Amino acid sequence: MTNEDIKKILVPFDGSNYSKKAAKKAISIAKKFDARISFITVVPSGTNPPPSKILGILTNDKKVQKEFHKTVCAIRIDLKKSLTSIVNDSKKENVAAEYKILEGNTIEKIIEFSKKGKYDLIVIGSHGLTGLVKIQALGSIARAISEIAPCPVLLVRN
Ligand SMILES: Nc1ncnc2c1ncn2[C@@H]1O[C@H](COP(=O)(O)OP(=O)(O)O)[C@@H](O)[C@H]1O
Ligand SMILES: [Mg+2]
Repeated sequence: MTNEDIKKILVPFDGSNYSKKAAKKAISIAKKFDARISFITVVPSGTNPPPSKILGILTNDKKVQKEFHKTVCAIRIDLKKSLTSIVNDSKKENVAAEYKILEGNTIEKIIEFSKKGKYDLIVIGSHGLTGLVKIQALGSIARAISEIAPCPVLLVRN
């Protein structure tokens, strides 16, 4: 591969240790190729505050809804912290980086994003938050992305 081949790297990030490892790998590759990185996290639609209609159907209990809302907000803040920290790690290595949080179907959004942005490489963890390492050779997102991505995919294992 020449230096021209890899200019834009996409790292789907779910906050798992696998995705953190993928992020580190992407940073070291980006450094060598003088590439830029986008870290993206897809959150399911309907989890945006205020509490979704779906939850309204599940429960009319305002207290429960409020608790749910608080939990969702806390998860998002935590996620933003992880993403900010990984972007800062990149910058420390003189690698240009950004993060995006998208909403919708995880596989669809990652593929759509990689096509639109014309990414040259996707660096993804072999497993994620579910982490059924002994049972599954690859997590479902990792498998789907490696099957249908429009560009080369690097699977980072533990
Ligand atoms: N919601 C998500 N948004 C962005 N990237 C994700 C998301 N879920 C998983 N990934 C990426 O896919 C990798 C594999 O995760 P996944 O296939 O979901 O495994 P598992 O089944 O163990 O959760 C993760 O390490 C991460 O890089
Ligand atoms: Mg998962």
